[in-house]
Amino acid sequence: MPRIRKTVLAMLMAALVMTGMVAAADVKIGFLVKQPEEPWFQVEWKFGAKAAEDLGFDIIQIGTPDGEKVLNAIDNITAAGAQGFVICTPDVRLGPGIMAKARANNLKVVTVDDRFIGADGNAMAEVPYIGMSATNFGRQMGEALMTELKTRNWDMSQVGAMITTFDELDTTRERTEGAIAQLKEMGFPEGQIYKAPIQQRMEIPTALDAANTLLTRYPDVKYWIVGGPNDNSVLGAVRALEGRGFTAETAIAVGINGTDCIDELAKATPTPFFGSILGLAGVEGYEACKMLYYWIKDGKEPPLDTRTAGRLITRANFRQVLKEEGMD
Ligand code: GLA
Repeated sequence: MPRIRKTVLAMLMAALVMTGMVAAADVKIGFLVKQPEEPWFQVEWKFGAKAAEDLGFDIIQIGTPDGEKVLNAIDNITAAGAQGFVICTPDVRLGPGIMAKARANNLKVVTVDDRFIGADGNAMAEVPYIGMSATNFGRQMGEALMTELKTRNWDMSQVGAMITTFDELDTTRERTEGAIAQLKEMGFPEGQIYKAPIQQRMEIPTALDAANTLLTRYPDVKYWIVGGPNDNSVLGAVRALEGRGFTAETAIAVGINGTDCIDELAKATPTPFFGSILGLAGVEGYEACKMLYYWIKDGKEPPLDTRTAGRLITRANFRQVLKEEGMD
């Protein structure tokens, strides 16, 4: 290449760097998630990879179940030449530390699902976020439970509502509070609603323990309706109920996510797990990566708060709905 053209190219590159713009092919982003074993996050990753393919950037996916792994991952993607990352953090209180590290490494950050909490205890509203419209998801869960309950001829004085909870996260607290508010508004007796707090992480075994503790305290309840922050938190409670002889005839459970309960809904014999409020994991994964890409490439800042809507799936319609949402 003649020297003059080389110089022009170098000047152009310098100008691009100065304006913070990067050529499409040079964009590289990380996608860090707290629970890579959960289908929800696998769907997010799958659609993040699709965005990378559609728009022509590179993506590095890393499972980061604790704070140390997050910090290492940030260093690793920086060394690999990334200009930013999408993250569902393993702990929302790591927010300020993660942002300090990202700034030091000159990386842009988009959060998905779990919103960072600042030192003052409030959500870090300045960091772009995409996630569920949590209260609405909870309300839809409560409504699905009440609608199904009304089709059963159960003696209401013998029905308990078990809500597994995880109040450490805003998004999950808002979901279960929404569910409880909806149950009350639709006439479920307040005194028969019981919370089963999940310790540490939301997983089937931790939810099962929380539910068993509650069931031991209320051995006389004959029928249960069950909700919780996500599918696994509800599936654990369902397993605990089955361990005590409850069936689809005596218990109704509804989850949230719709991604982690497909095997359950596909079972030949119905279990108490009646359905789930399907969230748009694919849309969230795709959009989060796309926003970050245009932020890096064109300097276009993403909206600070993007919320997605939910839709009830049951044994009757889940295959059809997953197909309609492109998630089959
Ligand atoms: C949290 C939960 C996930 C999923 C997402 C959805 O991160 O742990 O299972 O429900 O929210 O935003």
